[in-house]
This record gives sequence, structure tokens and C-alpha cells, in this order.
Amino acid sequence: MEPGGVIPQHVAIVMDGNGRWANRRLMPRAAGHKQGVEALIRVVRACVERGIGHLTVFAFSSENWKRPAEEVSGLMSLMLSTVSKHVGRLAEQGVRIRIVGDRSRVSDKVRGAWEEAEQRTVHNSRLVLSVAFNYGGRWDIVQACQRIAAQGVPAQQIDEACLSRHMALAYAPDPDLFIRTGGELRLSNFLLWQAAYAELYFTDCLWPDFDSAELDRALQSFARRDRRFGEVREAALPDQGTAQVEA
Ligand code: FPP
Repeated sequence: MEPGGVIPQHVAIVMDGNGRWANRRLMPRAAGHKQGVEALIRVVRACVERGIGHLTVFAFSSENWKRPAEEVSGLMSLMLSTVSKHVGRLAEQGVRIRIVGDRSRVSDKVRGAWEEAEQRTVHNSRLVLSVAFNYGGRWDIVQACQRIAAQGVPAQQIDEACLSRHMALAYAPDPDLFIRTGGELRLSNFLLWQAAYAELYFTDCLWPDFDSAELDRALQSFARRDRRFGEVREAALPDQGTAQVEA
């Protein structure tokens, strides 16, 4: 079913549930992550078709290093194979790939693959796919503050706009819709600054099962939301004029 109504400019997704998807099938967790890549490729196409300009996905968090070494190295290898297998087709669809996160901790090989993917797609603009890898919302705020301090910006010139300009996703509008699959109801340190006014959508669907129909359900939910950004909308004002404060 088509979503109808307002299409978000920027969708952010916490792709959770790969491990459980695999466990339920008595498969290794790595098989869940592999299917997770297939789901991501499906969802990118669906976003392109629906005219969504930015899709940002959480592929590896700052905290994911605590997973067993075998799973971490599996995710690194998956990143490499995903770049070589899928970047060509994504480029044909007009997708620009950007990697956001702390690049200092990944191997030269992974860093090189990212740079290649970014370079190959640099002239595309139909959809910007930002892959958050070794990313954390708190890391992002700290690195922005460090860069501002390193530039010697006077304290009175540091405001929200200044901080936004130094965040990892400075090139993108703030996410309008924040989706989390896998049934958990938390943000898990993803886009803490940028998601201040995002509409939240949680689904029990495990990420490898997520597809265009699931995306449309999220878009339909988004289209029904009344976004006020802290203001009181005209229609919501009571007749006698006592304004209510809305969050
Ligand atoms: C969370 O599921 C998922 C991740 C930590 C990795 C997400 C990665 C992908 C979808 C594929 C990799 C993407 C690229 C671009 C290489 P989980 O393992 O925490 O699942 P669980 O909660 O069921 O255990």
C-alpha cells in the first residue's frame, strides 16, 4: 500500500534484530547480519522510489566493539563485501554513500573501501545513504565540541547552529522519522542531537524481514503525526484564548 501524505525528507533506522532472526532459524548470527544487508539494499531502493532524500542507518555502534571478536571481525568483513557487491548498483540508482563515525579505529582496508564507495558515488544526489559505523550520538557531540574548541571559537559564539555545523551529519536535515526494528524501545545512542524532534516509530519486525511494505507502514504512521516542534498550532488554541504549552 502506498503511504500517501507527507513523505519525510530524512529517515533514520536502527536496524535491530539480526541476531534473533538467525537464532530462530538455528543459524549463526553472521547469517542474520548478511540478511540484514539484503534488507538494507531493499529499503534503499524503496526510499529512492518514494522520493526520500536522506536515509541514515546504524550499522555499527561505538558500543558494538564489546561483542565477541569473531562477530566484530565478521561485521568488518561484511562491510567490505557489501561495498564490493552493492556499490555499483547503488550508484546506478543515484545513491550517494557517506560513512559517518570515528574512522580512527577501523583498519586501513575498511577505511579504503569507504573512501572508494564515497568517491564512486560523490556526484549522486537522489538519495544520500549515510552509514553510521563506529558511531555514537555522544561521540558525535564530543567530537563536534572538540573541533569547535580546537578552532578557538569564543564561548559566546557557540550556539545550536554552531554545534549542528560541526556534527557528523552537518550536510543533512535533521531526521524527521526515526525507525527502530526488533521490538526494543530505545534510541541506543543513535543521532542523539539530530533526532531532537524526530517522530519515533518502533516495530517488532526483525531487521532482516523489513521490506517496502514495512517501510510504508512506518511512513503511514509518520503521515498521521501532528508535528508541532514545541509550538501551539492555530487549530489547537482553545476558544477563550488561554494558550497551552505543547511539547
Ligand atoms: C543489530 O542486530 C544489528 C547490528 C549490530 C548490525 C547491523 C548491520 C547490518 C544490518 C548489516 C551491516 C551493514 C553494513 C552496511 C555492512 P543485533 O545483532 O543486535 O540483533 P539482536 O538484537 O537480535 O541480537
